[in-house]
Amino acid sequence: MLKQLLVVFIGALLSQGSTAPTYKAQNNEDWEFLLLAQFWPTTSCYYFRESGCSVPEKVNNWTIHGLWPSNANEPQPENCNSSMPFDYTQIESLRDRLDLEWPYYNKSGARTFLWEHEWNKHGTCAYNLPTLQGEMNYFTSAMNLYQTINLFGVLKAHDIEPSEEKFQVQDIFNILNEHFQAKPNIICLHNSEKNVYYIEEIWLCFNKDLTARDCEEIPVHTETALKFTSETDSLFRKTKGYIKDCPKDGEVYYLPISHK
Ligand SMILES: *[C@@H]1O[C@H](CO)[C@@H](O)[C@H](O)[C@H]1NC(C)=O
Ligand SMILES: *[C@@H]1O[C@H](CO)[C@@H](O)[C@H](O)[C@H]1NC(C)=O
Ligand SMILES: *[C@@H]1O[C@H](CO)[C@@H](O)[C@H](O)[C@H]1NC(C)=O
Repeated sequence: MLKQLLVVFIGALLSQGSTAPTYKAQNNEDWEFLLLAQFWPTTSCYYFRESGCSVPEKVNNWTIHGLWPSNANEPQPENCNSSMPFDYTQIESLRDRLDLEWPYYNKSGARTFLWEHEWNKHGTCAYNLPTLQGEMNYFTSAMNLYQTINLFGVLKAHDIEPSEEKFQVQDIFNILNEHFQAKPNIICLHNSEKNVYYIEEIWLCFNKDLTARDCEEIPVHTETALKFTSETDSLFRKTKGYIKDCPKDGEVYYLPISHK
């Protein structure tokens, strides 16, 4: 099925924020909140359609994309400290958990690629928060936070379960907003051939003490997400909201996980 998905590529998966001007974090304390980004594997796999994608047999859940120090009105700090490059041996003991909770779906890529990328780009920026200091703390804290969330269970409790049915993205937003008492961001992918949308990521935001807080409004459509045919649509692209790259009528698929 994945091969048939023909979505408009919304920019390299791992280059989140790369369209923003390069931001030099002079000071690691220059961030306000943490954003926990989670992938829905079936959809996220699509990014790797060319190099091959596999959702590991054991993975049947939302998984971690990353834990990102973030700012409300400025870009996220990135690549904050090149004197602590990723060293896999520091987190090797977490391997079983990482494989389950934080897998990389690129079949051609190194297993450790996503961890390396996330550490170098985001983890090095979290250094001023003692609970996130160093690889062991950063990865463990992110996974522990993920464990307290159980997105799958929260949605399932409201009958939002992976299926061949479509759901209203606004319902998903409302359920999460009510449950966490904080506004999430929801990101979709578009299949331009069938003109259908798939839920791809959910972002939840936290204060530095890990209490939930609202995420920020983000541009509702990235430049390349959709073909804009009218003036109104190009205005729509500049609009900000909590839900990104999802359809105007709000109908999205939340497809079952395939391990093929
Ligand atoms: C960068 O990392 C090095 C090595 O851990 C550390 O000594 C230094 O204080 C860090 N710099 C900043 C700005 O956090
Ligand atoms: C998957 O991994 C291969 C090998 O590292 C790389 O060349 C390719 O760009 C990756 N695919 C994506 C979409 O990042
Ligand atoms: C999904 O992960 C959460 C942790 O975030 C866990 O509590 C839950 O039991 C898992 N659900 C399934 C179906 O594996």
